Amino acid sequence: MIKPGVLQRRLVGEVITRIERKGLKIQALKLMTMTRKLCERQYAEHKGKAFYDDLVNYISSAPCITMVVAGEEAIAMMRKLAGATNAAEAEPGTIRGDFAAVTQKNLVHASDSPASAAREIGLFFGPEDIQDWSDGNETWVV
Ligand SMILES: Nc1ncnc2c1ncn2[C@@H]1O[C@H](COP(=O)(O)OP(=O)(O)OP(=O)(O)O)[C@@H](O)[C@H]1O
Ligand SMILES: [Mg+2]
Repeated sequence: MIKPGVLQRRLVGEVITRIERKGLKIQALKLMTMTRKLCERQYAEHKGKAFYDDLVNYISSAPCITMVVAGEEAIAMMRKLAGATNAAEAEPGTIRGDFAAVTQKNLVHASDSPASAAREIGLFFGPEDIQDWSDGNETWVV
């Protein structure tokens, strides 16, 4: 998920380009403003933490871009592309390391396990929204 403000910073292409260049496969993509209720479900694991209310307020404040990204080890790869949660610790070369100066506004969310990916995909997409596609390269190689 691309978090609020990234659209306004005109960094959506930058983020998506990194996902594409890595070789991962975008199978669904939606521009949407999340209701508070949906944010609460998305971040249910953090309920009760000091940053939770601010996080829900922020995530529901403006459009996000939600995506389904597929590929072998896609979860680990997306987490590496995102970089560390804390803006001060995220390495240069990662999305957060290159563009985030504030931990809350760390540009992207990436699911952290197959179970959370399945749960989160279900919050945003129905089966009909997810496109499996082939890039046709198989016909170019032996
Ligand atoms: N200490 C903090 N102060 C402010 N915001 C925080 C803090 N810790 C986490 N957050 C916000 O809550 C989000 C969820 O925290 P989490 O621990 O799940 O990190 P993450 O898994 O790296 O990020 P995400 O779930 O968004 O992919 C963070 O991405 C960040 O926006
Ligand atoms: Mg998380």
